[in-house]
Amino acid sequence: MNKLVSCLIGKKNSCIPIWFMRQAGRYLPEFKKIRSKNPDFINLCLNSELSSQITIQPITRFDLDAAIVFSDILMVPFALGQNVKFEKDVGPILSNFNLDSFLEVSEELFTKRLLPVYETIRITRRNLDKRKSLISFIGSPWTLAIYMLGLKQEKNILNNDLLERKRKELKLILKSLNKFLCAHIINQINSGADIVQIFDSWAGLIPEKDLDNYCYQPNQELVNFCKNNNIPVICFPKGIKKNYANFANIVKPDGLSIDYEINPEWARENLEGVCIQGGMDPKMLLSNDELMFQEAEKYIKIFKDSPYIFNLGHGLLPGTDPYMVEKLIKFVRKFE
Ligand code: CP3
Repeated sequence: MNKLVSCLIGKKNSCIPIWFMRQAGRYLPEFKKIRSKNPDFINLCLNSELSSQITIQPITRFDLDAAIVFSDILMVPFALGQNVKFEKDVGPILSNFNLDSFLEVSEELFTKRLLPVYETIRITRRNLDKRKSLISFIGSPWTLAIYMLGLKQEKNILNNDLLERKRKELKLILKSLNKFLCAHIINQINSGADIVQIFDSWAGLIPEKDLDNYCYQPNQELVNFCKNNNIPVICFPKGIKKNYANFANIVKPDGLSIDYEINPEWARENLEGVCIQGGMDPKMLLSNDELMFQEAEKYIKIFKDSPYIFNLGHGLLPGTDPYMVEKLIKFVRKFE
């Protein structure tokens, strides 16, 4: 068992594994160089050689315990037939959702369209140090549906009217996505990944009364699937505040990634039976050494007697100086 897996499922607290969400990407000059020659982001994710190189980039530079596959949660809507484009300074743009063509996609076709992602994983596993984890990931059904149905307005606010109009369709999509997401999980694991992280990045937009149907249940089904297949699984229901406690009790993942709004002391007291991951505000890496180290030490001390994975409360920000990442890792390593 590598360090990350033994912390996650062996619940070992003798070490602090480190990796970062969005560790491969826009803050790295070596990524920007490849990206500038590859204007189509989806095509870049379908280029297994380049995607594998990008996956390894942060591992070459830093002393991390895991690589995360370079891909995107929106590869799933892409494989289900939706057009996905990434516009600079705008974000992802998806073509109109068509329920009929969505329901027609077979699991075979879905898998066929994602074969390059699985090849990325195979190449990466061959080139990656055996002691390091290779993390695969999916978006949760709700977070994918946000993009598939365009449920979010600018400024990251839920379009309530649209949600009300789309409730029936949403229910069907959440249910249908499960089968494809399970296939994507298994395919990634069979290609050489050893952990799955489920990103529910927009869980915080779910109205309180709908958390059960749109967050806990869909995540629980995926976690149960992972458990039945002995796949270590980490959940990240970003933005649900105190409902993290309900999430931990109901969904019971191996690992629970906390966001920067969660008080770590509250998390230690209220999130039982899970390995906690992350929490520190990624903005700390935009501040100065002293503030960043102080904050990192806070998390390390609070979780010193429980299994804890060092990570952030969301992904590394595009403006992050790679040198700050290096300094942070060296600082955390001192506590081992
Ligand atoms: O190290 C890594 O984490 C790289 C792999 C990775 C990417 N996206 C690459 C990427 C992962 C794990 C993701 C997950 C992802 N994608 C999430 C969940 C995590 C989160 O941030 O909440 C979400 C919501 C998406 C959807 C998405 N993809 C958005 C909103 C955007 C545009 C803005 C942004 O956040 O970058 C993307 C594009 C994207 N995905 C880029 C990268 C490196 C930037 C592409 C570019 O160069 O323009």
